[in-house]
Amino acid sequence: MEGTRAQRLMNEIRELKAKRNAVLLAHNYQPAPIQDLADFCGDSLGLSIEAAKTEAEVIVFCGVRFMAETAKILSPDKTVLLPDRWAGCPMADMITAEQLRDLKQKHPEALVVCYVNSTADVKAESDYCCTSANAVDVVRSLPMDRPILFVPDQHLGRFVAQQTGRDLILWPGYCPTHVLIGEDDIRRAKEQYPEAVVIAHPECSEPVKDLADALLSTGQMLGFVRKSPARRFIVATEVGMLHPLQKVRPDAEFLPAGSRGICPNMKKITLEKVLASLTDLQFPIEVPEDIRRQAERSLQRMVEILPEK
Ligand code: 13P
Ligand code: SF4
Repeated sequence: MEGTRAQRLMNEIRELKAKRNAVLLAHNYQPAPIQDLADFCGDSLGLSIEAAKTEAEVIVFCGVRFMAETAKILSPDKTVLLPDRWAGCPMADMITAEQLRDLKQKHPEALVVCYVNSTADVKAESDYCCTSANAVDVVRSLPMDRPILFVPDQHLGRFVAQQTGRDLILWPGYCPTHVLIGEDDIRRAKEQYPEAVVIAHPECSEPVKDLADALLSTGQMLGFVRKSPARRFIVATEVGMLHPLQKVRPDAEFLPAGSRGICPNMKKITLEKVLASLTDLQFPIEVPEDIRRQAERSLQRMVEILPEK
């Protein structure tokens, strides 16, 4: 019954998508049916690149606001829709442009690197943008004699500092979903399956990352398990990630690290809302042109830098 309804919704979405010359982009944490329906599914970096090069007139962004905003910044002439207007990223809202301006005043020599999980206003105040896939490369490319402000994720920032050996000035932001994954979740899973490989997102807390075999963006996780000979993985990130992992390695077993890694905002997007979004062109993302142009500079620099492999 449910299956038939989902199938009907999917067919209607496909039809309307063609009529509107729309493309459906979905993040790896989206509910499984949305991922399966999307024209492109990926991590924040892959989605930014895809949004910049698509020829569609309409982009339906199945993810959270900062991702749709990034698409709008890179493709200002396109209509970019977020199917749920309240699907935000709490981490992105942990620093405002005003707070960043104050921080810059305290460190006038510093270059600002902002994680893509940030508002357009914060991107506009930044020199470089980065995702978890290329943060290390972005920081490595910066002159050694300049201090670096890294906002808003302290956990990604610490990972980058450790990888590059650079002393970053960190903002105390964090992802409320990833910090719920505990060290005990990993230890318990490891006790049960000692041979399993632990993969974790750099947004996780430091004790969790210390127990991981690899720290990877969601896109990098897919590349990693594709090449790995292991048959069992413990996955320390948002649970939506299990779906694309299972698709690339149907022979392997993927275990979530505990049961709390669920991003409520990512789960706000449903098939019903995607259909409504395409029907009524809701909810369009707008970014004031002056902010957009400034934010585009920092994003453009990011898109030009290749992701870490
Ligand atoms: P990725 O860029 O690795 O897909 O991560 C985005 C995100 O929001 C992680 O919480
Ligand atoms: Fe933001 Fe965390 Fe959700 Fe990613 S998982 S969108 S960082 S709240």
